[in-house]
Amino acid sequence: MIKAAIFDLDGVIVDTAHYHYIAWKRLASEFNINLTIEQNERLKGVSRIRSLEIILELGNIQLPEEEKERLASKKNAWFVEYIESIRPEEIFSGVEELIQSMRMKGIKIALASSSKNAPRVIELLKIGHLFDAMVDGGMITHTKPHPEIFLLAASKLNIPPANCVVLEDAEAGVEAALAAGMKCVGVGATAQLGKANKVVAKTGEFDMNWLVAL
Ligand code: BG6
Ligand code: MG
Repeated sequence: MIKAAIFDLDGVIVDTAHYHYIAWKRLASEFNINLTIEQNERLKGVSRIRSLEIILELGNIQLPEEEKERLASKKNAWFVEYIESIRPEEIFSGVEELIQSMRMKGIKIALASSSKNAPRVIELLKIGHLFDAMVDGGMITHTKPHPEIFLLAASKLNIPPANCVVLEDAEAGVEAALAAGMKCVGVGATAQLGKANKVVAKTGEFDMNWLVAL
């Protein structure tokens, strides 16, 4: 029985995944790497520094740690600039209604985002009140596909992992949810997220009546 729903942020609640992509693409172009949408799938859900390492691996480029830190900060400065104009109207259609209907059924709601920018995005979207607990990239040691982030969210809600469902758009996130012993709803394409218990093209398409059959 599902007693808690844990939402990823980027790509599940709002299209900030796109801003991550254009910021990484801009950085990659400085190394003459044309970062494709397909390659970008691998960056979803993983940490900032791991994302950079994946890009550098694509270009067969090795750099010292300090230089990697500098580049990751540069990408983040662009990302922060892009998201400052985000408004509540950009929340994906049906997401607030889905969360509210879950809350009305007594289901606890948590946010679990690998992003250190998650608190700012939630503030700009004005949806902090919808969550009983929030975990972001600044609170964890291992990012997805490690299950730590979801296990921490479940423990903050005081709900056993087996009674949690995760909504995720990243392959690494689906893996993390399953490794945590939770159910998972993939948001996006079955090609990437086929391991999830259910896949929907958009978050708002998920019907909470499906929870019993996950
Ligand atoms: C995840 C994104 O939510 O956060 C990743 O899917 C991103 O693409 C990661 O790299 C870390 O984000 P940030 O904002 O801390 O650089
Ligand atoms: Mg995501």
